[in-house]
Amino acid sequence: MKKKLSLQACLFALFVLIGLIPMLVTNGVTERTSYQTLLNEHIAEVQSQCVMMANQLTKDNYLGKAGDPAAEAELEMLAGVYDARILVINSNYVVVKDTFSLAEGRTSISDAVFSCFAGNSNIETDEENDYIVFTRPIYNVDGTVINGVLLMSASIAQIGTTVDSLAWKTQLLELMWVIVLVILSAVLARVLVIPLYKLAVTINHMAIGDVAVDTPIVSVDDYRETELISDAYNKTANRLRILDESRQEFVSNVSHELKTPLASIRVLADSLLSAGEVPVELYREFMEDISASVDREQQIIDDLLTLVKIDRTSGDLNVTQENINDLIENTMKELLPIAEKKDVELVLESFRPVVAEVDRLKLSLAVSNLIENAIKYNNEGGWVRVSLNADHKYFFIKVADNGIGIPEEAQEHVFSRFYRVDKARSRETGGTGLGLAITQSIILSHHGAIRLHSKENVGSTFTVRIPLMYIQ
Ligand SMILES: Nc1ncnc2c1ncn2[C@@H]1O[C@H](COP(=O)(O)OP(=O)(O)OP(=O)(O)O)[C@@H](O)[C@H]1O
Ligand SMILES: [Mg+2]
Repeated sequence: MKKKLSLQACLFALFVLIGLIPMLVTNGVTERTSYQTLLNEHIAEVQSQCVMMANQLTKDNYLGKAGDPAAEAELEMLAGVYDARILVINSNYVVVKDTFSLAEGRTSISDAVFSCFAGNSNIETDEENDYIVFTRPIYNVDGTVINGVLLMSASIAQIGTTVDSLAWKTQLLELMWVIVLVILSAVLARVLVIPLYKLAVTINHMAIGDVAVDTPIVSVDDYRETELISDAYNKTANRLRILDESRQEFVSNVSHELKTPLASIRVLADSLLSAGEVPVELYREFMEDISASVDREQQIIDDLLTLVKIDRTSGDLNVTQENINDLIENTMKELLPIAEKKDVELVLESFRPVVAEVDRLKLSLAVSNLIENAIKYNNEGGWVRVSLNADHKYFFIKVADNGIGIPEEAQEHVFSRFYRVDKARSRETGGTGLGLAITQSIILSHHGAIRLHSKENVGSTFTVRIPLMYIQ
């Protein structure tokens, strides 16, 4: 069997994905922005320190005096605090102070220094070598002439380290979040599909039980969907139960009906056997009864086979265009002898010619059953009127008689298999109680309908309605 996707697994994957997306998106951005923010803050801070220092040197007239120890101490301190190297360059481009004490007395010429002598303060970032160079002019005491430059190269390596350690902490947090996310998603996915498992378990449980015995009620109403499935299941199970019941009833009826003629054959045969010397006339009489029982058994089996065949093949009728007037007339002709025997008048009223798509043999059988009943359950000298009419969509066959009629309470049962109103009388008339069941089955397979109107001791009318065009 092909491995099916599990809803639980899908939900789990979905939740994990939803939880991860925002993290993945923000991850790169925050790292980048946090580095930039820290860098900008650092630059601003160092720059302001640089400005203050340059102003201080201007105020102290540092370049006017040679080597002011207080100012130099401040320069050293500033360099120490910001991990920087500070140079003070005079108007001859000679370094007068280097906190690294490497370049004092040497000439320092660079674009930044030149530009600074022209009055511009500069900031140059060298991210590759992790430092920033600030240049700031130093003025003479009255602040009119630039007579020196303060050059400060501050390291920014620390920022990278800080960001790295922050990133490491973030990654640790992220890892923890992923673990929590996986656990949460697994739990949630499981919880969400529990009603489905519950449904499957309940239905399985019901499937093991006998559908016919207990009416299964599955009720998993955690979700609207599971409620719908439960309802659908209950309906199907109920239908199956009803079907099963009617099947059992049918089987028990069949066996009962088949046993009855056999039982009378057995009684007749046994009494002949045990009687010893029997006159030929009695012998003949008993054998005739046995023969009649065999005929009856044969009749029941034939009817049953017809019914089973119609049930099984309903849907694949042998449909052809038929003249219904002819069909009814022929059927009536076949039944004329039994009508005459009972002195029952047979009349056909055709209101119009009707051509329709039907299964000729089956419809003949259905009509024949109705007319035969109307004759059989009639009184001597009674009548049977068959009429045929049609509108643009349907044709109607009506079989009316003024016979014994069917009691009100029996009317809803006459179409059931083996049902007979008066069992003793029907046996007399040789019925099996399958005729109307067969008729109804045939009419339904033509997508038609059959209705009954009857009054006891007045008569019965069966009305059949069938579409002119057979609907596939
Ligand atoms: N026209 C009718 N008038 C009075 N009762 C009828 C009529 N048609 C049917 N019934 C009653 O309905 C019962 C069922 O009819 P159905 O045709 O199914 O069986 P049946 O005639 O007894 O046997 P079968 O037709 O199989 O030989 C009959 O036994 C009879 O009691
Ligand atoms: Mg009948």
